[in-house]
Amino acid sequence: MVNIAILGYGVVGSGVAEVIDKNESSIENGIKNEIAVKYILDVRNFPGDPFEDRIIHDFSIIENDPEVQVVVETIGGVGVAYDFTRRALLAGKNVVTSNKELVATHGHELIGIARERNLNYLFEASVGGGIPIIRPLTQCLGANVITAVYGILNGTTNYILTRMAREGVSFDVTLKEAQRLGYAEQDPSADIEGKDACRKIAILSDLAFGSHISPELVRTEGITAITEEDILCAKALSRRVKLLGVARKTEGDRIFVYVAPHMIAEGTPIAGVDDVFNAIVIEGNAIDEVMFYGRGAGKLPTASAVVADVMDVAKHFKARKYIEWSEEKPGFVRNAGELKNRFCLRISDAAEGAAEKAAALLGELTPVDCDGLKTGTLAVVTGEIADSVMEAALPELRPLGSSVNALRLFK
Ligand code: HSE
Repeated sequence: MVNIAILGYGVVGSGVAEVIDKNESSIENGIKNEIAVKYILDVRNFPGDPFEDRIIHDFSIIENDPEVQVVVETIGGVGVAYDFTRRALLAGKNVVTSNKELVATHGHELIGIARERNLNYLFEASVGGGIPIIRPLTQCLGANVITAVYGILNGTTNYILTRMAREGVSFDVTLKEAQRLGYAEQDPSADIEGKDACRKIAILSDLAFGSHISPELVRTEGITAITEEDILCAKALSRRVKLLGVARKTEGDRIFVYVAPHMIAEGTPIAGVDDVFNAIVIEGNAIDEVMFYGRGAGKLPTASAVVADVMDVAKHFKARKYIEWSEEKPGFVRNAGELKNRFCLRISDAAEGAAEKAAALLGELTPVDCDGLKTGTLAVVTGEIADSVMEAALPELRPLGSSVNALRLFK
């Protein structure tokens, strides 16, 4: 019998219990063993819930129960989740998680504790929800030198941007829907400000490039500045607005890693990824390019990845998976200001002389031929310029309009 304990009975934790219950016989066939949810730790009670009898409030019961072999951490964050994960590993229990913040921040340390005790700390659900990506990247593509990883890594923002583009629904309305559907983080600012995608690209970079990359080193920009006019400009340029996490190897084996909204050329596979779906593209020196696509958020898709990790642990109690990376290498992450891109610059209610000022700061500009923009909106595309040039220009351009935004063109 494989006994598991679930920490946190929220969207994902309850999904894990549900998937194990619903698919018990095929899961047991897969692991050639019986499986049971012995405890569920939460601060709340759940009267009437089918798992009501498993709810406990004291982590030490799990920590001290030798029958619990696998702890599933779905609390989220880096507070008690960090403490309980360390304690579970130190108590000799394997840990499986969907907690990207914890993996991105403390993954290297937690994997180290697991390694010393011949345990597994697995986190397939931490990136891309239900999409298999951690194993393909570390195992199936293990024969490649990875040159780039990028993708749409946040379901909530993709849902918001898709509905804004398709139906003209407002940002606030679509965010509320994403929350209702269980896609958004408890604090949705982590989604819309890009922090969730930042943690995910940090984890993918750790694995793809082999050393710890602190999320603090990932230059991160969310989608809160995007307006209907930016979406109209993207359409006029035959592009779609998407929030991308990007990590790319450059000369000297150093990497660029950043999160930002982009205008992606229509016709590229990733531009067609809509709603809550995520997609991750991996470029390798043997495979060329592969794209993984699926549901990036939601109860059962995420639980699907968590339970598959539990099964993998159950099949490898005495054999560690080599899903790990080395400590941080100083100077490995390049200053994102050196990145070069073309940008679509939009200045609403542009003051007289705004176009000349923008050209003086950014060089040659091509006007965007776009129907539907408000009178007085200036929309132009720059040549290829460094991020630092745009960053220095924006504070000078902002006073010249009621709102100003610059989106990178991709492909
Ligand atoms: N809030 C996240 C998203 C959940 O929207 O993608 C999955 O990590």
